[in-house]
Amino acid sequence: MRILVTGGAGFIGSHLVDALVGAGHEVAVLDDLSTGRRENLPAAARLHVASVATAAAEAVVLAERPEAIFHLAAQVDATRSLAEPLLDTEVNVLGTVRLLAAAATAGVPRFVIASSAAVYGDPTVFPTVEAEPHRPLSPYGIAKSAAERYLESFARDRGLTGVALRFANVYGPRQTALGEAGVVAVFCRRLLAGAPLTIHGDGRQTRDFVHVADVVAACLAALGAPSGAWHVATGVESDILTVAAELRRHLAPEARIVHAAPRPADPRRSVLSPDLAAGQLGFRARIPLAAGLERTAGWFRSHPEGNVR
Ligand SMILES: NC(=O)c1ccc[n+]([C@@H]2O[C@H](COP(=O)([O-])OP(=O)(O)OC[C@H]3O[C@@H](n4cnc5c(N)ncnc54)[C@H](O)[C@@H]3O)[C@@H](O)[C@H]2O)c1
Repeated sequence: MRILVTGGAGFIGSHLVDALVGAGHEVAVLDDLSTGRRENLPAAARLHVASVATAAAEAVVLAERPEAIFHLAAQVDATRSLAEPLLDTEVNVLGTVRLLAAAATAGVPRFVIASSAAVYGDPTVFPTVEAEPHRPLSPYGIAKSAAERYLESFARDRGLTGVALRFANVYGPRQTALGEAGVVAVFCRRLLAGAPLTIHGDGRQTRDFVHVADVVAACLAALGAPSGAWHVATGVESDILTVAAELRRHLAPEARIVHAAPRPADPRRSVLSPDLAAGQLGFRARIPLAAGLERTAGWFRSHPEGNVR
């Protein structure tokens, strides 16, 4: 298949590109390299350096005429979205609509977007199910929720298959240690630099950590899925103190932990039910957190700069 991956030079996108190329697909990437890196891409992938927030993105879709688009390019930092809501909207809402419109014009039959647990804000049901209402706490979460609504609209009115994958907290090799999304990457880098770990709040806030290899498997499953929205998650709730302890054990047992003020727009608990995705998408995460953290710590040991230039 001819496949376009936006954000393909980034953390999750580059693992997806590797898998698609490995499976024999013809892959093009659209990325502005704002956080992604050209070196993350295999030689077989064609890179178009452009922003999804500009008309150049539409030209890429029309030139490539892919059979599927994975739309992962985004402003990914929820804290930054609070400080710069306009930028977040331009990239995450307008960029998505621009690509959807171009996809409809070019007759692209399948469009998969990277959504997020952030659409739920502070949910009331644990593990949270897909039917939980969206009550996002940040412009980032609002934008992901809006992007899902636009996808539904285009799927209904323009005949494309629209799949939204709501990722939990993704971790693994190549994750950027910038911004807030990657607590695992941030901790690995600090431990390897001999620095103390900073935990925002008491560290008992929970997340559902899913390894990037599992996320790639979910994306591949989305190539055969009908329109819908599904979790890409483990259903296992782990707190930040546990992650800190595991990584410290692997990388720097003597490292200190210091506590800082809680972050704004940071939910207390986050764990997503994986059951609907297992039944309807045929996807279940396979990598347990302890094993995934050990593998990730090993990768950062040989790449202490992470994904930072
Ligand atoms: N990492 C997580 O835990 C997580 C959780 C939920 C959802 N997501 C979503 O998954 C997707 C990938 O995130 P990631 O963690 O790999 O982050 P990342 O920053 O590594 O990847 C984002 C990629 O998009 C590119 N990009 C950013 N703005 C762009 C623009 N205007 N035009 C073109 N390219 C642009 C960046 O250069 C980068 O390569 C994002 O949509 C993100 O919101 C990630």
